[in-house]
Amino acid sequence: MKIVTVIGARPQFIKSAPVSLSFRPGIDEIVVHTGQHYDPEMTEVFFADLELPPPAYNLDVRSGPHGAQTGRMLERLEKILEQENPDWVLVYGDTNSTLAGALAAVKLHIRVAHVEAGLRSFDRRMPEEVNRILTDHASELLLAPTVGAVHNLGQEGIAGSRVHLVGDVMYDAVLQHTARALRVSTVLDRICVQPQGYVLATVHRAGNTDDREAMRAIFEGLLQVSTAVPVVVPLHPRTRKSLLDAGMLEAVAKGLTVVDPMGYFDMLTLEHHACLVATDSGGVQKEAFFHGVPCVTLRAETEWIELLASGWNRLVPPLGGAVGTSILSALAESRPTERPSGIFGDGNAAGAIAALLANYR
Ligand code: UD1
Ligand code: UDP
Repeated sequence: MKIVTVIGARPQFIKSAPVSLSFRPGIDEIVVHTGQHYDPEMTEVFFADLELPPPAYNLDVRSGPHGAQTGRMLERLEKILEQENPDWVLVYGDTNSTLAGALAAVKLHIRVAHVEAGLRSFDRRMPEEVNRILTDHASELLLAPTVGAVHNLGQEGIAGSRVHLVGDVMYDAVLQHTARALRVSTVLDRICVQPQGYVLATVHRAGNTDDREAMRAIFEGLLQVSTAVPVVVPLHPRTRKSLLDAGMLEAVAKGLTVVDPMGYFDMLTLEHHACLVATDSGGVQKEAFFHGVPCVTLRAETEWIELLASGWNRLVPPLGGAVGTSILSALAESRPTERPSGIFGDGNAAGAIAALLANYR
């Protein structure tokens, strides 16, 4: 059996790693990197940390408006899929690379399997929401990470033997790599912070970086927090550019511990030892929970609703002065005592996915 895996953005390298490892002999996996992310700290570092072989193809599409970027991917993917003629195209998450992989495949009558199917924010202004909905509707096999995701698919008429609750591959990855990360990473020494002595923050969502008011609300809030506790910010290139364009980068770099995007092992280590995580990332919200660290999500909604109910995550829309005060009050509270188990599967989502792909008729 031949599977073409299409990945291209940072979280997809991480999500695909446990699945690629789970493929048994007899499954020929061909990895196509769209090149959506291309800076070494957004791509190569993950192939190195996760010991992934280099992709068979790199489409080198790089950045651009949605239509142009997705269009370049489609054109190049179509040629490769015609040439490789796989049994499956496997896509992850909700980026433009996900949509391009699904669309190129379904038009060629190649079956699509979608890892992280069924997540919804119910905000169609998010590019990711559009990507998720279209990808789910183009997919033959829907690999849902949570019960809520299965429910969302049912609401859209996608149910039955195509839908499988497999758990979350990001949970698998955290279980597989945290011990090693904590052993080898020197990040705390390099950036001069102590365990439990800092807040870790990441911001990259288009709604937060392209909207000046939202970006100002977030970074002014983080600067307020930094008067009480250091705030470490591995800065996504998109956010660096937006801060620079807004004339805010200098003040932010002065008040916060701004660093380049981190490799996976350094990031796991920073998450593990943080006293609190503040983020608009989907992956980082969950990873905070996996490490038992409370999270403030800098958005009005989240796809990972399960963490809100248990008190490990709270939503803080980036409006006015709410961000700083909310993070400071979250820091003052004690951590929830209960950590619900099983929400994200049993740590073997990847094995379940590999088995479904191999046996699906
Ligand atoms: C993309 C995904 C988002 C995901 C995120 C993970 C879409 C629509 N968005 O957002 O869902 O959460 O990846 O990180 O697919 N840039 C660089 N170097 C790089 C990559 C990007 O400088 O290696 C800069 C460019 O200025 C680019 C901007 O970042 O225009 C945005 O990159 P893009 O891949 O379009 O979207 P992300 O914000 O990274
Ligand atoms: N990540 C990382 N270094 C960073 C920021 C994030 O290794 O500087 C990892 C993080 O641990 C998680 C994934 O990247 O596994 C999340 O990706 P991102 O926040 O870019 O995208 P999202 O999850 O929001 O789609």
